[in-house]
Amino acid sequence: MAEELHIPKTNNRAEIYTALMPQIRALVQGEHNFIANTANVMAALKEAFQFLWVGCYFVSKEKSDELVLGPFQGPVACTRIAMGKGVCGTAWAKDETIIVGDVEQFPGHIACSSLSKSEIVVPLRRKDNSILGVLDVDSEHLNHFSEIDKKYLEQIAVVLSDVFYE
Ligand code: SME
Repeated sequence: MAEELHIPKTNNRAEIYTALMPQIRALVQGEHNFIANTANVMAALKEAFQFLWVGCYFVSKEKSDELVLGPFQGPVACTRIAMGKGVCGTAWAKDETIIVGDVEQFPGHIACSSLSKSEIVVPLRRKDNSILGVLDVDSEHLNHFSEIDKKYLEQIAVVLSDVFYE
């Protein structure tokens, strides 16, 4: 595909995700390198929504109880997160998407950036459903994420799962 995204000029997030989904599928189609694919998908999300931070953490190959930082867009971030720690480690341990409207109310939240106020973390899965990492999106606004983001970010996680071959 042409290396340029087409993002509708609207504040309606569902409309933007709807326009983005086929472009995300096209971006990763035929490419087997997971780092390349996640890097481009994080860039697409950042460009479409200007979220503060969009990135992946992967289950570490050498320490299976830790996540390690993967491709991201935004301010520098913590490189490792233990299972059960922070929102990312909790989404991994609980095996489910977590939406946090106010990170200061989340026990054990890891503040990589003091600007981050709310976030959503979606598990990334292998085809057998086991978790290979998480997709983490942070916002400088309170209560910035809803079931709309959950629905589409989980769809994006499935697109990434389809191109995970390790
Ligand atoms: N806020 C996350 C840590 C990662 S960064 O925000 C990039 C958490 O508590 O899991």
